[in-house]
Amino acid sequence: MADMNGKTAIVTGAASGIGRATACLFASRGANVIVSDVNASGCDETVALIQEQGGDSRAVPCDVANPDEVENLIDTSIRSFGRLDYACNNAGIEGETADTVECSVENWRKVVDVNLMGAWLCMKAEIPRMLAPRNAPDDGGGAIVNVSSIAGLIGFGGLPAYVASKHGMNGLTKTAALEYAHRGIRINSVCPGAIETPMIHRVTHHNPQEEAAMIARHPMGRMGTPKEIAELIVWLCSDAASFITGQTIAADGGYVAQ
Ligand SMILES: NC(=O)c1ccc[n+]([C@@H]2O[C@H](COP(=O)([O-])OP(=O)(O)OC[C@H]3O[C@@H](n4cnc5c(N)ncnc54)[C@H](O)[C@@H]3O)[C@@H](O)[C@H]2O)c1
Repeated sequence: MADMNGKTAIVTGAASGIGRATACLFASRGANVIVSDVNASGCDETVALIQEQGGDSRAVPCDVANPDEVENLIDTSIRSFGRLDYACNNAGIEGETADTVECSVENWRKVVDVNLMGAWLCMKAEIPRMLAPRNAPDDGGGAIVNVSSIAGLIGFGGLPAYVASKHGMNGLTKTAALEYAHRGIRINSVCPGAIETPMIHRVTHHNPQEEAAMIARHPMGRMGTPKEIAELIVWLCSDAASFITGQTIAADGGYVAQ
């Protein structure tokens, strides 16, 4: 299926895990893909994977918590491919494990800056470029997916900054969706459960017992794969989801249904 031919997608946090799988899936649907991450060599690896599958992609390293770097990311994307249609604001960090009292101000600021302010800065730069007039009169608008978490829907002891940032992201998503619904931009967030990426191994401290306990809390009895989340993100960006905006959609093996 190449229904995204001629379109351009940006994915942040695309050097690893969910972001890498999403960048590769956008490319397999025909989109040109801007691969962004603070990890420059990881960006290059993702671009190489896309090129191996015949896609067109550029690496643009960027720290999403830095306003100037985010502006540069979006400018470079427009210069590279001439337009912006889809954005997946996925870059995120879990921060340190410490309860609400023990959480340091430094950890709080870092996690909220990357996860919540980063997604806001990205949307602030992406939305005007999606609104920009293009060749045909009806050729404007776009779709944005913010990667939140089930920690944006329920609490998790030991991760106060992460949980607050992801709850904030869901509220921000709904607000931006309302603001731009009538101008052709759809904005949704996805809330993954535990997904097989380097992040989940850090969260469970590379400890098999903690990992097994995490899996046991998922009614499906397993973790999800990055590809399963990428499928939801790319579907939300596609025309198949043309009447869906302002939603926070869990892909969690049943976790939050309990
Ligand atoms: N893995 C899970 O179980 C899980 C569950 C729910 C939500 N999520 C969310 O999914 C997203 C992707 O996580 P993942 O599991 O693929 O983790 P990951 O650690 O494999 O990938 C995250 C990527 O974000 C990048 N990144 C970190 N800080 C950045 C910054 N300041 N600017 C730009 N890039 C930055 C990292 O370099 C890394 O490549 C995150 O937002 C995470 O919170 C993950």
